[in-house]
Amino acid sequence: MEHVRIRTVKKEDFLEIMDLASKCDPIPVERDSIYHLFTKYFADTCFVAEKDNKIVGYILGFISQLEKNVAYIHNICISPDLRRKKIGSSLYQKFFQNMKKEKCQKIFLIINPTNKLSISYHESLGFNVSKEGEEIYVEGVRASKDYNGPGKHMVVMCKYL
Ligand SMILES: CC(C)(COP(=O)(O)OP(=O)(O)OC[C@H]1O[C@@H](n2cnc3c(N)ncnc32)[C@H](O)[C@@H]1OP(=O)(O)O)[C@@H](O)C(=O)NCCC(=O)NCCS
Repeated sequence: MEHVRIRTVKKEDFLEIMDLASKCDPIPVERDSIYHLFTKYFADTCFVAEKDNKIVGYILGFISQLEKNVAYIHNICISPDLRRKKIGSSLYQKFFQNMKKEKCQKIFLIINPTNKLSISYHESLGFNVSKEGEEIYVEGVRASKDYNGPGKHMVVMCKYL
């Protein structure tokens, strides 16, 4: 891996994360406030990868307030010019370690069914497609029908720690 440092986020990272998010194709750009929320209120379950003092990757997650053994990953993104250098895997390892320490047993995330690369990437990390909701097949992938609203089918993935 390139010389990168993995650390938990700080409140003031949100602008840099927001900037990286805008280059995170194929992930859609979200409202700026989302990033501020994560860096302010979920800082202990969000990590960044830093290279030469610049944020080149992030993973944003949180632990459910209702089920303390369940975590959710909102998003992960690596700078397009630094992909395939195990930065994503390092962020994940850090996240998994941290969740084990917090006694989380299940980690969920959702992926757009057309993001095939991300689905197989997460399978290689031990995630499986969850049978949640009514099933619908999109481009041969099992998704949960209308998960994010009418017509917005998503693949729900889950990893047991
Ligand atoms: C998905 C993503 C986070 C992976 O991070 P990364 O740091 O590039 O991945 P890693 O270097 O840790 O990859 C580990 C392995 O995953 C597989 N993999 C990762 N990217 C791949 C690609 N583009 N094509 C094929 N295999 C790939 C490979 O097996 C790779 O190992 P290898 O390089 O030794 O063959 C990154 O590509 C990204 O930010 N994508 C855009 C945002 C996104 O789709 N996020 C997920 C939405 S939930």
